[in-house]
Amino acid sequence: MDAALDLRAAALTAFNSFGLPAHAARLVRLRSLAQLRALMAEDGWARTPRLVIGGGSNLVLRGDVPGTVIKVELAGRRLLGSTADAWLVEAGAGESWHDFVRWTLEQGWPGLENLSLIPGTVGAAPIQNIGAYGLELAERFAALDAVDLATGGVREFGPADCGFGYRDSVFKREAGRWLVTAVRFRLPRPWQAVTRYADVAQALAGAGIETPSALDISDAVIAIRRGKLPDPAQLGNAGSFFKNPVVDRERCAALLAAHPTMPHYPQADGREKLAAGWLIEQAGWKGRALGPVGCYARQALVLVNLGGACGADVERIAQAIAADVEQRFAVQLEPEPVFV
Ligand code: EPU
Repeated sequence: MDAALDLRAAALTAFNSFGLPAHAARLVRLRSLAQLRALMAEDGWARTPRLVIGGGSNLVLRGDVPGTVIKVELAGRRLLGSTADAWLVEAGAGESWHDFVRWTLEQGWPGLENLSLIPGTVGAAPIQNIGAYGLELAERFAALDAVDLATGGVREFGPADCGFGYRDSVFKREAGRWLVTAVRFRLPRPWQAVTRYADVAQALAGAGIETPSALDISDAVIAIRRGKLPDPAQLGNAGSFFKNPVVDRERCAALLAAHPTMPHYPQADGREKLAAGWLIEQAGWKGRALGPVGCYARQALVLVNLGGACGADVERIAQAIAADVEQRFAVQLEPEPVFV
């Protein structure tokens, strides 16, 4: 294997968007399926602990990682075909998500614009079913190819096989089993703008745009995200640190009686999704820090590395915030990133 793609005692700081210090016993930068087959054919592969990463934007590294870290860098993107009712587009798992979204828009295949500027890779997108500004990946997903890291078997997953939920999928639940190699998207024709999210509607109205193009929506989403969310290249972070908690209707009604302005979003199953950012802000954490990790001043749902933080620092503030929210609202916050 090319030595530059197979490193021992490799620093992972540049490969996790939080910028947490950690080393991998071995780091493999995966550029081809042949490289993966060679790796899996090595003596001791079955016993080797392994971790698959994409852009590292949903990761909290608590310390050094034993075994092999596989950083997926499989490239490629193409139109597979188009019919009267959809474009079918495919990308390698290692492609940058945002670059892929903008490329589809430039090619004239709209549909992913609401998911602009989400950090990370194409392969990681279905794992946590990324979602933002009125759209979830699951709504544009056609299929993906994945390799079973235990057996080497290759499998295609259709929408029903993925078990998509809010920030969830079978790949997240069976962590470490599947390595996603390519993802296919079904972009419905004729294209329809998704502008139901209040921030998007407001940004478009503010710019005087009545019938937005997909590029207009992408630009609006980019502006909204830049205004609220820290750029990981400037200030280490993993996006939303907690999932928005979903509670039953009675719990929501009790909270609303005490806090009439609390944001809440009815779900298809009758439950209500609450805004973790709001709960955290009410608990007094917005803009506060504990050691080298802060709760971001413009969006309380995001924790930021103020400089020199390690995984334990992130865990400490996360636990303190969750404990305060639990005490105040009797709601449990669940972290969104994967802890390693
Ligand atoms: N809010 C506050 N204080 C805050 C943050 C939010 O009161 O500090 C309130 C807002 O005023 C609003 C509500 O909470 O009423 C929701 O806020 P926002 O629209 O900013 O979205 P969010 O629920 O905080 C979620 C996603 C984001 C995604 C946005 C837009 C999760 C965990 N987060 O955030 O995803 O971009 O909606 O769709 O679902 C990510 O996953 O990394 C991410 C950034």
